[in-house]
Amino acid sequence: MATKLLLTFAICRLIVTVGLTLEPTELLRLGLTVDPVDVESASVDFGLMTKVEPLAVLRPSSAKDVAQLVKAAYESSHGFTVSARGHGHSINGQAQTGTGVVVQMSGVGSGGKPRVWGGDMYVDVWGGELWIDVLKSCLEYGLAPKSWTDYLYLSVGGTLSNAGISGQAFHHGPQISNVHELDVVTGKGELMTCSKEQNPELFHAVLGGLGQFGIITRARISLEPAPQRVRWIRVLYSNFSAFTKDQEYLISLHGNQKFDYVEGFVIVDEGLINNWRSSFFSPRNPVKISSLGSNNNGGVLYCLEITKNYHESTAETIDQEIEALLKKLNFIPTSVFTTDLPYVDFLDRVHKAELKLRSKGMWEVPHPWLNLFVPKSKVADFDRGVFKGILGNKTSGPILIYPMNKNK
Ligand SMILES: Cc1cc2nc3c(=O)[nH]c(=O)nc-3n(C[C@H](O)[C@H](O)[C@H](O)COP(=O)(O)OP(=O)(O)OC[C@H]3O[C@@H](n4cnc5c(N)ncnc54)[C@H](O)[C@@H]3O)c2cc1C
Ligand SMILES: *[C@@H]1O[C@H](CO)[C@@H](O)[C@H](O)[C@H]1NC(C)=O
Ligand SMILES: *[C@@H]1O[C@H](CO)[C@@H](O)[C@H](O)[C@H]1NC(C)=O
Repeated sequence: MATKLLLTFAICRLIVTVGLTLEPTELLRLGLTVDPVDVESASVDFGLMTKVEPLAVLRPSSAKDVAQLVKAAYESSHGFTVSARGHGHSINGQAQTGTGVVVQMSGVGSGGKPRVWGGDMYVDVWGGELWIDVLKSCLEYGLAPKSWTDYLYLSVGGTLSNAGISGQAFHHGPQISNVHELDVVTGKGELMTCSKEQNPELFHAVLGGLGQFGIITRARISLEPAPQRVRWIRVLYSNFSAFTKDQEYLISLHGNQKFDYVEGFVIVDEGLINNWRSSFFSPRNPVKISSLGSNNNGGVLYCLEITKNYHESTAETIDQEIEALLKKLNFIPTSVFTTDLPYVDFLDRVHKAELKLRSKGMWEVPHPWLNLFVPKSKVADFDRGVFKGILGNKTSGPILIYPMNKNK
């Protein structure tokens, strides 16, 4: 009974907003739901800092469903808002709307499976597809996308609306630089295909467009032969300038010389020093902070994180290649930690941390996060003012810091 009343109320609210151009039967025709479970889940995100309930939710099974809804919104006399939602991993309510409909792009029954085109080295995926599922489909063909995010339980449409950056971006560019073509539902409810050649303005507006220029229903993503294994290395620095110099050097390398992934993070709390290796790195020799000479450095340490992909057939030379590359870097000599794992396990590494945090009830908590691009000329000031200054040793959350090539 309570549920039924709620449904009626929500439908009334929607009718008021859209200016009575939509009858309840029309809501059904558009496939909208006001099921409290759907409405609740569309009203929150990973940030858990803002909560806004939509009037209704659409779970589309195809691009046509999305187009039909947006067209109805465009043509209705008073209008209502439409917001695409992928996996809801935004921080500040970017996928929410209180004056219209959330289109829940990710989830069962949407869109269809990824289609891999081995000869052309690309994959066509539904906009709501999660990257982890894109990866699994491509691996069946021995292929994989080139540019990633650290975490794979994010939707293709969600990351392509931002940029999609991780340790591969210095080489391949962000994920938005690795897209051949998109199908987009525009603000008028038209389904259009776009690329650098076809409707280029739409293509460039939608990529990194924060969901404001259309809804991505299909993306054609560039692939490469999938590496089999990954050598993953972490080394420590107490000297910020030596750290950034090495990071910048690493992203300037080409060809065989280069690593495949370059990231890094800051350790501001000495208490965390034996936490940072995560379960992937065996605790062979627990690091003693005093032996790293960081005490005269406000306790701040910097970890450089690099990987080299390889194929089992070249496993014999990987040790020498890495040895040669590490020789050129100026980290604290006693602080080298390496591990070796299948490519999938490396890409999906954050999920392992997620499961651990979930088991402690520490995943579904508020996440005030901030991402910044800092120009090279200001990174030293940033280190002094923020890492060594404001943060002191009071911060326990992860702080990533890694370099980007602007031309990518
Ligand atoms: C644990 C974790 C790790 C992360 N790591 C990284 C990282 O390494 N690199 C990185 O770049 N980002 C990272 N992110 C951020 C993440 O890429 C963005 O928050 C991304 O938008 C989340 O995708 P989503 O599918 O959950 O999107 P949602 O939160 O559902 O939506 C995000 C935005 O995209 C829009 N949108 C969603 N789907 C579509 C669509 N099909 N068409 C058009 N617009 C759409 C929404 O309206 C909204 O504005 C991380 C986030 C988390 C929670
Ligand atoms: C820190 O590293 C930089 C660059 O490598 C170097 O010039 C400087 O002397 C180092 N500082 C200390 C205190 O070792
Ligand atoms: C770090 O915290 C300890 C107390 O927990 C304090 O004694 C020390 O001075 C702090 N160091 C810095 C650099 O803030």
